[in-house]
Amino acid sequence: MRALAQAACAAFLGAVACALQGCGEPGPAPSPSPAPSGDGGETGAPAGRFENWILGLMWQPACSLPDCGSDKRVLKHLSSSSYAAEHLSLHGLWPEYDPSLHHNLSWPQFCKGPVGSFEKCEASERDPLCRPPRDALAKYNTTADWQTFALGYAWGGLSTHEWSKHGSCTGWNASYYFEVEISTYKRALKLPGPLFIESKVGKKVSQKQLLAAFGGTATFGCHRCMLTDIFLAFAADNATLLPLGVANSTDPDLLGSCAVCSHIEVLAWKGCPTPPPQTEPRGLVV
Ligand SMILES: *[C@@H]1O[C@H](CO)[C@@H](O)[C@H](O)[C@H]1NC(C)=O
Ligand SMILES: *[C@@H]1O[C@H](CO)[C@@H](O)[C@H](O)[C@H]1NC(C)=O
Ligand SMILES: *[C@@H]1O[C@H](CO)[C@@H](O)[C@H](O)[C@H]1NC(C)=O
Ligand SMILES: *[C@@H]1O[C@H](CO)[C@@H](O)[C@H](O)[C@H]1NC(C)=O
Ligand SMILES: *[C@@H]1O[C@H](CO)[C@@H](O)[C@H](O)[C@H]1NC(C)=O
Repeated sequence: MRALAQAACAAFLGAVACALQGCGEPGPAPSPSPAPSGDGGETGAPAGRFENWILGLMWQPACSLPDCGSDKRVLKHLSSSSYAAEHLSLHGLWPEYDPSLHHNLSWPQFCKGPVGSFEKCEASERDPLCRPPRDALAKYNTTADWQTFALGYAWGGLSTHEWSKHGSCTGWNASYYFEVEISTYKRALKLPGPLFIESKVGKKVSQKQLLAAFGGTATFGCHRCMLTDIFLAFAADNATLLPLGVANSTDPDLLGSCAVCSHIEVLAWKGCPTPPPQTEPRGLVV
């Protein structure tokens, strides 16, 4: 059970902005990604010791809205005909604890392991050691992968953030972490819940429909009653740590920041709101 500040759409805001500001409705929500240490994450934990996973999926169009003014690098690559306008995007694959086995902490983060020590990335991800190595970037930063369904990995700070904060806790190398992440994402997109969401682009769903589509296996995040995040629970294989089938969420607050919304919109992307027109400076000679 977690009591976290909501921080939906971290993918769009890049590593730090969203973690600090949050961009969904206020209120508790189950996203482990943006947690500063002290609210459930164990910074510097030894890699490879965890029991569960959360797969973070995001609805890129709604996540883009709060960020229209800042992360233009990523927004340039989103249009109404993008894959990411009609499908759930990859946010992250996060090792999770069974808190009863970890002093009531909820997840490991910025871990120490065979590929390095990532504790200092919590304060700043600018250090080159926080970045995934070149071979991993070359393998997944392609039109087939990140540039289609993980725009924040390709053009924002998310590949560095997810690798240093969460991937470092697997004990795997970055290539293998991203490979498992992508295969879990592709597997998840075939599940009834994600398929239901993708059938509702531009429409609203009731809380009841949303919960029914996922059957207790996910928690949610909203921004102004637009769906931003889906957090799917998976068990980890005891021996290989690989994600097994979807599991019931251990969080009793499934609706998270969507709880205040009777209906939840799956936003069709129509671009950023037009900024208010500039008033003509007086006395301008043309
Ligand atoms: C963990 O939380 C439970 C329930 O709140 C409490 O009984 C237990 O003492 C806590 N354990 C630790 C190690 O803090
Ligand atoms: C991914 O590739 C694009 C296109 O070449 C490039 O602009 C971007 O900087 C790359 N991203 C990363 C994280 O390497
Ligand atoms: C990464 O780990 C995988 C799985 O253990 C292994 O097959 C692969 O060779 C490793 N890649 C690098 C670049 O070390
Ligand atoms: C994996 O670990 C869990 C929790 O310790 C245990 O209940 C389960 O039986 C184990 N499964 C296997 C296949 O060892
Ligand atoms: C989740 O819990 C429900 C009701 O307790 C149960 O019927 C269902 O099989 C569980 N699903 C998973 C994936 O464990």
